[in-house]
Amino acid sequence: MNLAVVQMHPAFGEVEINLERICALLDRAEAEVVVFPELALSGYFFTTRHQVEAIALERNSVILNALENTAKRQEKVVVVGFPERDGSRLFNSAVVFDPRGERHYYRKTHLFYREQFVFDEGDTGFFVLDFSWLDVRLGTMICYDWRFPEAARTLALGGADVIACPSNLVTHVWRMAMPVRALENKVYVAVANRIGSESDGTETLSFNGRSAIYNYNGMVITELPPDTEGIATAPIEPTRTRNKSFNSINDIFADRRPWAYRL
Ligand code: ACM
Repeated sequence: MNLAVVQMHPAFGEVEINLERICALLDRAEAEVVVFPELALSGYFFTTRHQVEAIALERNSVILNALENTAKRQEKVVVVGFPERDGSRLFNSAVVFDPRGERHYYRKTHLFYREQFVFDEGDTGFFVLDFSWLDVRLGTMICYDWRFPEAARTLALGGADVIACPSNLVTHVWRMAMPVRALENKVYVAVANRIGSESDGTETLSFNGRSAIYNYNGMVITELPPDTEGIATAPIEPTRTRNKSFNSINDIFADRRPWAYRL
């Protein structure tokens, strides 16, 4: 099967335009599982809750329904970041569309920088979805979650073969850590990052692209440039992540010593 990450430049505040572009990119993606960036439907740099409230989507929104119809028509598992409204609460969420079943939602656990002023902390925890007809188990974390190895480890212990990581990365250090999250858990990691910049008038955030897929040895198997939109696709073998040994004696899960760790 193929796994793809999509790199794009969302238009800030333009949900309908972004929906159209996401659907067009999805159409071009030749993969069974396709990962889009964090907040791909809205853009990123919200500086007040009011701004998020004006644009956040409820789960039964027309926009998410339209996206789901496209995912179902194309028979693809699709992960897309969006701002979620649930009553008075606002989340930096990712929806996972299962073309043969229900939708699932991950709400970002670790809020980065000014996200802490405009979003509520995610309450879903980290979970793994089993897409049995593809024989792939998928977990999701969002961007800054990478700084907490417990996030990827929780997904791997939950049986994930692939970690989808919708992102809006503004540093460069993630490129040292993401392959390590893959290696230390023996899983694929798919980082879909955005490009472009956004400003609130006093501060500009630049997003650095280089979306990539890492294999379970932490090697880059496909990667995009820092500044252009595009789709990176790679063939993967999810079942190969399930045996956690890396030589005839060691197994990275069997060798864990939780009694010695402090969380
Ligand atoms: C980030 O979490 N968007 C850096």
